Amino acid sequence: MQLYLDSANIQHIREAAGWGILSGVTTNPSLLAKEDPKVDIKNRILEIHQLVGGHLSVEVISTDTDGMIREAHEIRSWFPDATIKIPMLPAGLAAVKKLSSENIPTNVTLIFNPIQAIAANNAGATYVSVFLGRLDDIGMNSEHILDEITSIWYTHGFESKIIAASIRNPLHIIQSAKSGAHIATIPYDVLKKSLKHPLTDIGIDIFLNDYDKLQTEIQKLLIEQ
Ligand code: G3P
Repeated sequence: MQLYLDSANIQHIREAAGWGILSGVTTNPSLLAKEDPKVDIKNRILEIHQLVGGHLSVEVISTDTDGMIREAHEIRSWFPDATIKIPMLPAGLAAVKKLSSENIPTNVTLIFNPIQAIAANNAGATYVSVFLGRLDDIGMNSEHILDEITSIWYTHGFESKIIAASIRNPLHIIQSAKSGAHIATIPYDVLKKSLKHPLTDIGIDIFLNDYDKLQTEIQKLLIEQ
């Protein structure tokens, strides 16, 4: 399963890209709104693109088909391998159909059930983003819904890739991998927390202390000789 960062924060993206485990970045208007409003959106997107060579999803804000297509072309003029994030609306599906006929990759976002996911796939989406945390927020079982979607995907051999999104904790990442999602897009804090384990830190301390002890013993022996 590939790991993407779900962020528009340059420091976080730079740091996580440095770990060598990122295959892409997903952004959305809410993530961009958390950042410095003095940096214009196009420049921020281009800066992110320079940091992470792989996938970069940029979301449109129009809700009508023509507006989405116009924005998609505008974003693709910024950098030619942009993936266009399109909301799961009937008008969005029509935009995906048109963009896919132009070989423009799309990521259909805000998917919460298997039928939305099938519709996005059939419209020609390259990626379908299933939101886990927001399902859990309303008392629905995101694990079960993601399992249903992945099982449909593998039964039918659908080509579009499933992105597990709205990830809020390490268990969501494990749940995504177990269910067979192709990608999990993860906020910086959750990814960083998931890479840490207290026994790893304790283990490093023990190794370093033992190494220091060994060095002291060696020095003693050298002095005694
Ligand atoms: O990728 C979608 C994600 O940014 C939404 O996350 O936590 O706002 O539901 P959240």
